[in-house]
Amino acid sequence: MTEEVERLRVELGDRAYEILVGPRLIERAGREIQPLLRRRQVVIVSDETVARHFVPQLRDSLSEAGITHHTVLLPPGEETKDLDHFGRLAEEILTFGIERGTMLVALGGGVVGDVAGFAAATLLRGIDFVQIPTTLLAQVDSSVGGKTGINTRIGKNLIGAFYQPRLVLADTTVLTTLPRRELLAGYAEVAKYGLIRDAAFFTWLEAECGAVCDLAPAALRRAVMTSCAMKADIVAGDEREEGDRALLNFGHTFGHALETETGFSSRLLHGEAVGLGMALAFDFATRLGLVAAEEARRVRRHLDAMGLPTELSAIGLAGTSADDLLAHMGKDKKVRDGQITLILPRRIGGAFVMKDAPRDELRDFLAAAA
Ligand SMILES: NC(=O)c1ccc[n+]([C@@H]2O[C@H](COP(=O)([O-])OP(=O)(O)OC[C@H]3O[C@@H](n4cnc5c(N)ncnc54)[C@H](O)[C@@H]3O)[C@@H](O)[C@H]2O)c1
Repeated sequence: MTEEVERLRVELGDRAYEILVGPRLIERAGREIQPLLRRRQVVIVSDETVARHFVPQLRDSLSEAGITHHTVLLPPGEETKDLDHFGRLAEEILTFGIERGTMLVALGGGVVGDVAGFAAATLLRGIDFVQIPTTLLAQVDSSVGGKTGINTRIGKNLIGAFYQPRLVLADTTVLTTLPRRELLAGYAEVAKYGLIRDAAFFTWLEAECGAVCDLAPAALRRAVMTSCAMKADIVAGDEREEGDRALLNFGHTFGHALETETGFSSRLLHGEAVGLGMALAFDFATRLGLVAAEEARRVRRHLDAMGLPTELSAIGLAGTSADDLLAHMGKDKKVRDGQITLILPRRIGGAFVMKDAPRDELRDFLAAAA
C-alpha cells in the first residue's frame, strides 16, 4: 500500500468497515476485496458512462486476484433509480446464480451506489457489497453511511434500507473524467461538512478550494478524508438518523424543494440544490436572528466563487410561488405532525435541528427570495 492511500474506519460494531481514499484504488480493488469474500464471485453494477472508463480495469483487477465476476450495466442518470430498473437489475443479478456469499460491487456515482446498495440489501435477504464511488458527491457522502434506496412516482428515496457496505474504495484518480459541473456539485457537499461542524475546515476550503477542484492530489485527498471522517463519526453515533445524523441534511430541505420544482432534471443537480439550499438556510437563519449576516455573506461569497448557483434567479426560479416551495418542503421525510424540520446554522461550523420551523416566517422569506 502506498502512503498516498489513507484509511479510516466507520465504527459500527460487527458491521464496521474501512474507507480507503487515494489514487488508483480500482487497480488494487481485487486485492482489497479478496479478504472480504465468502465466495469468489463478484457482480459489478455500474452505469454505461462509468463503465466505459473504469469497468475494464476493475475486471482486470478482480481477475488478477482470482475472483470470478459478472457485470450489469444501467443507463446513467437519476431515472435509473426507479422500480422498473431496480426490478430488471435484481433479476439479471439472480440469473448469475448468486449465493449468500456473493459480493456485489457498486462502481459509479450516487445513483449506482443507491440502487446497487438496495439490491444488495434485498437479494437473498441481503448479500455483501462494496462501494467504489466515482463522483465527488458519492465519495464524500452517498457511499458512506449505508443509506440505500430508489425513487417512486410519489417521491424520491421513499423505498430503501439502511444497509452498510463492507468496504468503500474512494479512488481519487477517477475524478479526472468527471464533468466539471458534476465535480462542483459534489464540492457543495464538501463545503457542507465545514458549515455544519468544522469552521477550520471551511476556512481551509476558502483557501484551497481551487486546488481541490483542480484535483491537486494532496488537497483533494484531505477534502475527501475530512468529509468522510466527519460522516463516519456522525453515522457511528446515529446510524438510523434519530439525532445528529440529521445535521447531514443541512441545505437539503430547501434543496429538495428546488429539485422538485425543477423536476429532478439536469437543470439543477442534487449538489447544486444543496449548495443553494445552504445559502438559503444561512439567509433564513439571519432573518430569524440566529446567525450574523456577515456569516451568511461569507458562505454565499464562497459558493459564488466556486461557480455554484446561490440565487433562485440563477436557476430560472425567480417568481416561483413561495406556497409551492413550502408545499414541497412540507413533503420532506423529516416532517413530523405537519411541522417542517430545518437544519439551521448558528455560525459557520455550528448547525442545529429546528423541529418546528415557523411556517409564516418561512413563507415570507421564500416570497422575498423568489
Ligand atoms: N445514499 C446517500 O446517503 C446519498 C447521499 C447523497 C446523495 N444520494 C443520491 O445520489 C444521487 C446523485 O449522485 P451523483 O451526484 O453521484 O450522480 P450520478 O450517480 O447520477 O452521477 C452523475 C453523472 O456522472 C457520471 N459519472 C459518474 N462518475 C463518473 C466519472 N468518474 N467520470 C465520468 N462520468 C462519471 C454518471 O454516469 C452520471 O451521468 C442521487 O440519486 C441522490 O439521491 C444518496
